[in-house]
Amino acid sequence: MNRDIVILTSRNKFFGQTRKPWSSLDVDQIAALLAGHGWKVEQHDFHQVVNQAVDLKGRTIFYAFSQKDNYRQYINDIVYHLSKNNRVIPSYDLLKCHENKGYQEIFKKTIGLNGLVAQYHTSGDEVNAESLKYPVVLKTTQGTNGKGVVLIRNYPEFLKQTKLLGKKLGLRRKLDLFRRKYLRKKKFIDYPDYSDRQDYLEYREYLKHEQNFILQEYVPGLDFDYRVLVACDRYYVMKRSVKKGDFRASGTKKFSFSKTPDPALLEYARSVYRMFDTPFLSLDILFNGTQYFVGEFQALHFGMSVVARSDGYFKALPNENWTFVEDKPHLENLVANTLVEYLK
Ligand SMILES: Nc1ncnc2c1ncn2[C@@H]1O[C@H](COP(=O)(O)OP(=O)(O)O)[C@@H](O)[C@H]1O
Ligand SMILES: [Mg+2]
Repeated sequence: MNRDIVILTSRNKFFGQTRKPWSSLDVDQIAALLAGHGWKVEQHDFHQVVNQAVDLKGRTIFYAFSQKDNYRQYINDIVYHLSKNNRVIPSYDLLKCHENKGYQEIFKKTIGLNGLVAQYHTSGDEVNAESLKYPVVLKTTQGTNGKGVVLIRNYPEFLKQTKLLGKKLGLRRKLDLFRRKYLRKKKFIDYPDYSDRQDYLEYREYLKHEQNFILQEYVPGLDFDYRVLVACDRYYVMKRSVKKGDFRASGTKKFSFSKTPDPALLEYARSVYRMFDTPFLSLDILFNGTQYFVGEFQALHFGMSVVARSDGYFKALPNENWTFVEDKPHLENLVANTLVEYLK
């Protein structure tokens, strides 16, 4: 087998993440560890691939995600292009899923990860909201730590919350709209059907500030969720409690860890992981007492507390029993070892 890998990072060898979304893993260390396993490693910055004719074809490419909007677009362009002639890890689909709960729902359906019913929209106007099953969870496509995630109990709340997704227009825009509505008298020779009224209505719609969102089936009565990080056959598990009077566990920082395996949870996580094809998978798992559901997932650049604060991970033994493996966490080691295992 060709043991040759290219690592692409953002500026200053950034490869997220460790403590926070702005803290990088040590890519040189990951590269050295991979080299120790017999891999030939080449490193580039994304901008070098675009601008300095680093021609990548037929290669295995492990690349960084970013939480910064401009960088996400940049990486998206480059990885889409590279994915046509290379093996990119994670896949382009999983890059699109990153910090995009809308595409996650599309992708879940593609791979048969069914469970929570969900819809993906650009506006409340698209939703048949009077006949929705309430309560329902509204999530903006972007946002972490519970920001942008609200519980909607009824139709009036739906109207209120979807209205909050928009932004009010500034005074200049408002005056301009007033002018267009009442004072404008335009004619266009090349557009004889033009109407001031129609143009005003269409322009008003065009100006409307919108945020895309999903509506996801609500799992009632949870006082915690699980964060499970799967790294090939290692399963890191952290329980996250909700704050009193809230339903969101993400962002509370109320973590707990156990060394006693929960086989049903671990088997569910494994069955989900097997639907994907990726070295790392961070899962938010909701458990209603009988069934497990995936709330959201990330293939890279996920929160690392689940590893950093743990004393080790769970692993299935050949006899299918789960066991806890004591292992002092070292993030770069974990990344390198998991990649090596995945690429085997
Ligand atoms: N469908 C759901 N039903 C009940 N609780 C949910 C549901 N989806 C998410 N939650 C809760 O809300 C929290 C935040 O939602 P999540 O989709 O993970 O967004 P974030 O990106 O903010 O972490 C989760 O940690 C979980 O506790
Ligand atoms: Mg989450």
